[in-house]
Amino acid sequence: MQALERLAVALEGRVPGIAGHSRRVAGYAAELARGIGLSHEEEIRLARAGVVHDIGKACVPGSILNKPGPLTPQEERLVRQHPATGAAMVSDLGDPDLAAFVRHHHERFDGDGYPDGLAGAAIPLGARILAVVDTFDALTSHRPYRRAVSRARALEILHREAGTRLDPDLVAHFGSRHAGFAVA
Ligand SMILES: [Fe+2]
Repeated sequence: MQALERLAVALEGRVPGIAGHSRRVAGYAAELARGIGLSHEEEIRLARAGVVHDIGKACVPGSILNKPGPLTPQEERLVRQHPATGAAMVSDLGDPDLAAFVRHHHERFDGDGYPDGLAGAAIPLGARILAVVDTFDALTSHRPYRRAVSRARALEILHREAGTRLDPDLVAHFGSRHAGFAVA
């Protein structure tokens, strides 16, 4: 696990603007897990999943990860392999739930996501949690091609995507927890 965590952090060096993303996603994911009353074991699993969720991007060329413009269909296909690749990488740790969280973190609540097009409760809860907090952290972080939005604006976007891309109950929990900090 430690080696994978180190790889995940090292990977952030390949893409400007994502330093600290995995750690923040891990923190938010564990916090949300605790907030909805999951077990301590599950909270730990979410923290680990947060750190390694994008580890499959190790197999995506840096030129694609750093491409400022839109991706070609072929490049898009490569990027979309990262959840399945990542799940295969962590599967050796012997925790099938952790691997499932990684595999399904880009599924959409309405079934239009990837890699398996799962919908609603068929998506593992941990993967639905990752989707919410990953989106929030991406929106509130600066990237080379766009500025960060405020926390308040990010929460608005999360609420807009509740029920389509994101699990509405989890968005509601996350929103109520972070509403106090949303004035920035
Ligand atoms: Fe991802």
